[in-house]
Amino acid sequence: MKKMALLLPVAAFLVTGLAYADGGEELTAKHKCTSCHKLDKKSIGPSYQDIAKKYAGNAGAAAQATEHVKKGSRGVWGPAPMPPQSAPDEDIKAMVDYILAQKK
Ligand code: HEC
Repeated sequence: MKKMALLLPVAAFLVTGLAYADGGEELTAKHKCTSCHKLDKKSIGPSYQDIAKKYAGNAGAAAQATEHVKKGSRGVWGPAPMPPQSAPDEDIKAMVDYILAQKK
């Protein structure tokens, strides 16, 4: 019976952890990133897959992408600018993590 008491918090942690990991995609819809970004095709902005590919293995990528989402960006991918996006910091982190994980 003692084992059950130990397993419960572990199970709860796994459930919330997975829910968090799934959140990125819904958040990009909620914050309307999807009006300029698609998963696998260039739109007004680069596709999530192209972003993930460009920054694969780049340890500073998440920090730079977060900065660009918050403050806006121009000239990294082309002439079209991304205006600064207003979303809570933790939402931006979840979305950037999600986008950078979309390698083909
Ligand atoms: C009005 C269109 C538009 C919207 C809305 C938009 N983006 Fe972008 N996004 C762009 C464009 C254009 C670029 C390429 C900018 C450049 O070349 O510097 C870009 C680039 C990016 C990049 C790559 C940044 C880098 O460092 O290379 C990420 C990540 C990103 N967007 C995430 C998001 C997220 C998350 C949201 C929603 C909160 C969002 N975008 C909303 C147009 C948009």
